[in-house]
Amino acid sequence: MNRDYAKQMDKNDTLSKYKAEFYLPEHLYYEANGLGPMSRRSEETLKRVTEEWKNYLVAGWFCGKIPWFYYPERIAAMENGLAGAREKELVIAGGTTTNIHCLISAFYRPEGEKTKIICDHQIFCSDRYALEAQIRLKGYDPKKELVLSGGSAPLINEDLIIKEMDEKTALVFLPSVVHSTGQLLDIERLTAEAAKRGITIGFDLSHSMGVVPHRLHDWGADFGVWCNYKYLNGGLGCPATIFIHEKNFNLSPAMTGWHGYRKDKQFQKLPYFEAEAGAGGWQHGSPLILNIAPLEGALDMILEAGIDAVRKKSLAMTDYFISLVDERLSIYGVKLLTPREAHKRGGHVTILHTASDEISEFLDSGSVLTDRLKVAVRMKMQGNTKTSMENQIRISFSPLFMSYEDVWQTAENLCQLLMP
Ligand SMILES: Cc1ncc(COP(=O)(O)O)c(C=O)c1O
Repeated sequence: MNRDYAKQMDKNDTLSKYKAEFYLPEHLYYEANGLGPMSRRSEETLKRVTEEWKNYLVAGWFCGKIPWFYYPERIAAMENGLAGAREKELVIAGGTTTNIHCLISAFYRPEGEKTKIICDHQIFCSDRYALEAQIRLKGYDPKKELVLSGGSAPLINEDLIIKEMDEKTALVFLPSVVHSTGQLLDIERLTAEAAKRGITIGFDLSHSMGVVPHRLHDWGADFGVWCNYKYLNGGLGCPATIFIHEKNFNLSPAMTGWHGYRKDKQFQKLPYFEAEAGAGGWQHGSPLILNIAPLEGALDMILEAGIDAVRKKSLAMTDYFISLVDERLSIYGVKLLTPREAHKRGGHVTILHTASDEISEFLDSGSVLTDRLKVAVRMKMQGNTKTSMENQIRISFSPLFMSYEDVWQTAENLCQLLMP
């Protein structure tokens, strides 16, 4: 599939118009799974909220386009369709890691023999630190209670995770898309298996939200959390989203604060805590209004584009890149790590190569071909030819600001770097 194929695909691409709405560097940008770029719509909503601050000061809590008092719930509700959440199941608050602490502190209730937490062996470092800390805070030893499940191969074997769910399991906490490999787990199946055994299950959806559709409510996941600065383009410092399934609305948050108080009585500042019903009750202190503001514009664009169209294009782009790896890059030692099956893939593709550091540097800095990089790549290729897990290169193709021709260009640039 050559460049003409890419051009034809771009001609028929209904999402191509969104690229012009982003502030992008001159070179191709592959970090939608790390930090999405700023769009003009985000800039506008941020400007509007700063104007409200300028003009209304503290009165901004209850006036302006969306009063700040309701802002975390109102912007979170814009994500209902992306998450498959019902009214009041989402709120925007805290950071991803902080929220994992808050959620685990309430949902992890070890009792008797039921003490272990199952996670995956590829778990993101910060999630692991939080789980270990929470186990310690409950008086247990993380070395005994945290089970890194899923087998020894880089791709997670979900059957092994299900096998591990036994009477000693208090909680399962998994990613939707695995950050390292790009593997999309079957949330529906894992949730159903946990429910069959009466086990609580939650997900870190940071690498799927905004690029993969979800039905969290219908699937019955107990809770979830995700970053808003990756595919959702909310900007660094944008607070994260918390999902609490309606069936868990009666569970008291363990880490309480006055912004989680019943909304009708919050400003009475009473000496006892009464949580707002739903995810809203999981807030703590004053919401980070200025940091949420860019997300409002970013979500407006994603909702207009439609998550199904975004997923369709994302899969077509990653499919195309995989075919280019097979046709053009495999002869230079590039291997695919991400699953080939579309339903097992998120928005990024992970490839393996012995010169992974040099390739990542090349892609990150705009694919500028230098003698130094070519020599370094040659030396690596002549040395150790094994491609281990350390030799990963993660490439994210954003459906909103990348074209099929960008995918072709990526493979072309890599060929130029790798060919003798
Ligand atoms: C899967 C996953 N979980 C958690 C985090 C940490 O997020 P934060 O720094 O917002 O706490 C990240 C950050 O990249 C991530 O990729």
